[in-house]
Amino acid sequence: MIDVPSTVVRSVIAGCGSALPQRVMTNADMSKIVDTSDEWIVERTGIKARHIAGEGETTRSLATLAARRALEHAGLKAEAVDLIVLATATPDNTFPATATLVQADLGITRGAAFDVQAVCSGFVYALTVADAMLKAGQASCALVIGSETFSRILDWTDRGTCVLFGDGAGAVVLQAERHADLPASPGILISRIHSDGRFSDKLYVDGGPSTTKTVGHLRMEGREVFKHAVTNISAVMDEAMKAARVTPGEVDWFVPHQANRRILEGTARKLGIAEERIVMTLDRHGNTSAASIPLAFDEAVKDGRIRKGQLVLFEAMGGGFTWGAVLARY
Ligand code: UT7
Repeated sequence: MIDVPSTVVRSVIAGCGSALPQRVMTNADMSKIVDTSDEWIVERTGIKARHIAGEGETTRSLATLAARRALEHAGLKAEAVDLIVLATATPDNTFPATATLVQADLGITRGAAFDVQAVCSGFVYALTVADAMLKAGQASCALVIGSETFSRILDWTDRGTCVLFGDGAGAVVLQAERHADLPASPGILISRIHSDGRFSDKLYVDGGPSTTKTVGHLRMEGREVFKHAVTNISAVMDEAMKAARVTPGEVDWFVPHQANRRILEGTARKLGIAEERIVMTLDRHGNTSAASIPLAFDEAVKDGRIRKGQLVLFEAMGGGFTWGAVLARY
């Protein structure tokens, strides 16, 4: 008798898209605002420039544009979508969820749309939630979006933080498909997310509707965050790869959250990953929080680096602390 593998529902990445604000702000521009230099920023972070949202550009508008491009790339109409999960820490309004605003922009009137708040890990969290809902049969086609306008919550007098962040959005379309239960089949293979609220004061915003009744500004103990980043990211990447019985050598592309070049290099060294297999957009985008992974993924898919059938590992760490990893076959 021939052994036929059983089939399972997999969340398959059917398309991707991204959007960046028009205005580019270089390190030289930054040095006119705060006491900093191109040399310091490049050496400590790897960032050379970032996009900053202008008038009329918001988390919603960037997300909608990225979502439209992802749908077009997938060859799907908006009507196909019955779930929108949008990761952001900078929503257009305290409520309703920015996801519902994007839903309205796209003319979708069915299914569910909601935001996920896990700061820089937001996209990994959103992928995890959407994947679980597709596998549970609660939806069949999901838009998973990371969109941020961190420029609006930065303290532009604090050189320790304002030079690090940028604005942008990225999106993927996930479709529930039945495939043989094999590692070679497309879709999300595994996801792992974590948080530890004991570190909530290391990276946070000092305002909110229920406390100060204001939006507040981003505050960070950079050195403290850095210390935990390499450890937590390496651990969760290792956990995800072990759970999927995959070695770092078998992963074609690492698409990390883009916070600091030194964090990416440290993680790569720890896990024995060749730097050529890491997608980096940090130099041109800065840290775009929940948007950084889908922005980097879209760039590498569209320029032909990431190809169908390849194994991709997404990973992130951010405020909370939150961190996580998702392993997917594109
Ligand atoms: O996405 C969420 C996760 N976030 C992260 O992963 C960020 C993690 N942290 C980092 O990336 C790094 O800690 C930073 C890039 C934020 C800072 O780099 P660092 O090597 O940890 O520098 P530091 O904060 O220890 O500061 C070193 C020096 C200080 O001066 P003194 O005290 O040595 O005289 C700072 O005042 O650099 C100074 N400094 C700056 N100098 C020029 C801090 N910011 C700047 C600046 N330009 N923009």
